[in-house]
Amino acid sequence: MALNVVIMAAGKGTRMKSALPKVLHRLAGTSLLQHVLRAAAALGAARTVVVTGHGAEPVEAEAAASGAVFVRQMPQQGTGHAVQQALPALDDANPVTLVLNGDVPLIRPETAQALVQACAGRCLALLTITLPDASGYGRIVRAADGSVRAIVEHKDATAAERAIAEVYTGILAAPTALLRRWVQALKNDNAQGEFYLTDVVAMAVAEGVPVVSAQAPSETEVLGVNSPAQLADLERRLQRRQAEALMEAGVRLADPARFDLRGQLVCGSDVEIDVGCVFEGQVRLADGVRIGAHCVLRDAVIEAGAVIHPFTHIEGAHVGPGALVGPYARLRPGAELGPQVHIGNFVEVKNSTLAAGAKANHLAYLGDATVGERVNFGAGSITANYDGANKHRTVIGPDVHVGSNCVLIAPVTLGAGATIGGGSTIGKDAPAGQLTVARARQATIAGWKRPPKAR
Ligand code: UD1
Ligand code: MG
Repeated sequence: MALNVVIMAAGKGTRMKSALPKVLHRLAGTSLLQHVLRAAAALGAARTVVVTGHGAEPVEAEAAASGAVFVRQMPQQGTGHAVQQALPALDDANPVTLVLNGDVPLIRPETAQALVQACAGRCLALLTITLPDASGYGRIVRAADGSVRAIVEHKDATAAERAIAEVYTGILAAPTALLRRWVQALKNDNAQGEFYLTDVVAMAVAEGVPVVSAQAPSETEVLGVNSPAQLADLERRLQRRQAEALMEAGVRLADPARFDLRGQLVCGSDVEIDVGCVFEGQVRLADGVRIGAHCVLRDAVIEAGAVIHPFTHIEGAHVGPGALVGPYARLRPGAELGPQVHIGNFVEVKNSTLAAGAKANHLAYLGDATVGERVNFGAGSITANYDGANKHRTVIGPDVHVGSNCVLIAPVTLGAGATIGGGSTIGKDAPAGQLTVARARQATIAGWKRPPKAR
């Protein structure tokens, strides 16, 4: 059924105590608003209207790519007032309008879809949930026969009504034409002096329009974010959900409570992930990959059988099959490691290709370099790729051995099989197959004495 979706996102979010509008705070790396927009998109909404107000400009910028239309609510006089602003933007060709909250990010499309079905273009359908502590929420007031009579806001509720555990989640689906009429007729004669969207329930009842309810399958889907503590709680719930999906697919997480995914993680079989790792953007781990504790991987591909040792940071890199990386390694954008490459502790690689079997095991920097097969890049050696204005490439042929503590001043080429003596500063190309040394000769001064200490 063709659908309008209204996302209410004008509120200030006072309890966040933040300069950032509430709906722009992030959950698993994605803004609250983006989560809700994705749900609307998954529902195939024909029109999505976002009600903005507090921080309207950045909020609209965040939603710009979604194709949603924006209406501004200034000042913010309640949820009914928010939907009033959205009315001109609703498309009457869509018989159902679904109202979502910008600060309730984890609503599942299936749950919202069930609500739309329950509405069926002729009923008012409310998503409700029964909570052990319902305080603060609008209570679902039912008649003796179980039919819904009204929603009463906490601040307006009597003691008896406050004892009701079934609450309104803030999500409803209504026939578009009826919603239009009801919302225009809302009054603000209540404890908060606001226009309550929830008053449409009593209007529907008065007109004999059926009011139906659907129970949210889980609390997590309908929890709102009002404070940093609630944001953190929802983050853990979402992370748990993601961790469980991965474990279901066979991924071995050392501890699902110490796992963070802020994007998409695609894993092959027999992947092991130790505690405290963070995955961001798009990450793919092929069969048999092992990720050690406390690694951060962003937009990376790790091929089969590679092992990433603890405390390694990888961003925008491709790690070949059977490679060993870390501990304490850093792969920056454009790092391309071939099969069986070894990158050890305190080694940084940026915009460089290392062919099969190449090794840089200790304390090294490879930037803008092309490294051939089986190269051994010694401890403490670096490519000096930046002359203060421009970057230059270093080309290291296959089977080159670079000793320890060398500086390769780019642009420079080391021929196949060349050996570079330890401590060399290489500013000119080194020929293939030979030893090149560029450092002061060692000298011993016979009979030299240390000066005596001045008294
Ligand atoms: C609302 C419901 C309450 C329900 C609860 C669920 C009403 C009157 N009450 O209360 O029954 O149990 O949600 O979480 O609807 N917003 C605007 N403009 C405004 C006011 C709010 O866009 O003028 C947006 C907020 O940004 C937020 C959403 O509407 O995304 C809900 O507003 P909020 O103030 O949190 O409503 P509650 O008091 O929690
Ligand atoms: Mg709220």
